[in-house]
Amino acid sequence: MAPITQRLQGKVAIITGGASGIGAATAKLFVEHGAKVIVADVQDEIGQSFCKALGPNDTVLYARCDVTLDSDVKDVVDMAVSKFGRLDIMYNNAGIVGAVDPTTLGSDDENFKRVFEVNVYGAFLGAKHAARVMIPTKKGVILFTASVASVIAGESPHAYTVSKHAVVGLMKNLCVELGQHGIRVNCISPGAITTPLLNNALKIDKSVVDGVLRASSVLKGGLIEVEDIAEAVVYLSSDESRFVSGVNLVVDGGYSTTNLSFTSALKNAMTQTTNGYAHHL
Ligand SMILES: NC(=O)c1ccc[n+]([C@@H]2O[C@H](COP(=O)([O-])OP(=O)(O)OC[C@H]3O[C@@H](n4cnc5c(N)ncnc54)[C@H](O)[C@@H]3O)[C@@H](O)[C@H]2O)c1
Repeated sequence: MAPITQRLQGKVAIITGGASGIGAATAKLFVEHGAKVIVADVQDEIGQSFCKALGPNDTVLYARCDVTLDSDVKDVVDMAVSKFGRLDIMYNNAGIVGAVDPTTLGSDDENFKRVFEVNVYGAFLGAKHAARVMIPTKKGVILFTASVASVIAGESPHAYTVSKHAVVGLMKNLCVELGQHGIRVNCISPGAITTPLLNNALKIDKSVVDGVLRASSVLKGGLIEVEDIAEAVVYLSSDESRFVSGVNLVVDGGYSTTNLSFTSALKNAMTQTTNGYAHHL
């Protein structure tokens, strides 16, 4: 069902990593809000059939775009201008976790470089080419998907955590430079969601991961869904946020506000003490 108010009516957007997970949910919501969308990804078959199902090709297009290749990113931005007349929203969302190795000594150098290449350099290229076509129009919105790993430490691999901190730094730097040209720049930082990215990284059954997320969440009453992130992206893309720039909007139900490991260790210790006491009786 189309929303009552189309908050992105007539806007043109590119979503990298748009064939799956958060990017796909955002593409769907953007179209419902009246935007024209280019889904840019490296999963061609999935991306093409997703776009076909989403809407006619005067509204939604798929483009193969490896965000680590300058020429691919240049082409997709030029495609937005040639097919839809301009680019209003560049959502740099493509990302990878890389190898899930939490130790410094066990980490692989090439993996570290690759995570940076996709998550940071790829995001930079998206911003660079978007700025190229947005600066002359004196407006535009550039967004990045960072992560809750940009504000907490110790729960994701080093390369991933550092890359997401770097994305927030990039966003802030760009916000200052591009603000001169009327361009807003922001991040969305999702908490953990069972998309293919997380499921492939953890290699555990989705229902088990969902159970862990439910147990560890601060805000009870459900799990974070990709649609929750898409709603935040629509807000940051729409004119309703017209003076919001330089923000890392964390959408994690409050998870990153606290560290419950002391409470949890205390509970375990109390349970053990109580059980031990009961045993002695
Ligand atoms: N799922 C989570 O728990 C979570 C939490 C915080 C942040 N994020 C971030 O959200 C973003 C989207 O992830 P998701 O969870 O939707 O995962 P996903 O795997 O469902 O989607 C990521 C998409 O990015 C694409 N991609 C990967 N490398 C690419 C490249 N070089 N060029 C173009 N596209 C590429 C993939 O093909 C895929 O379609 C990522 O930046 C991720 O780091 C995810």
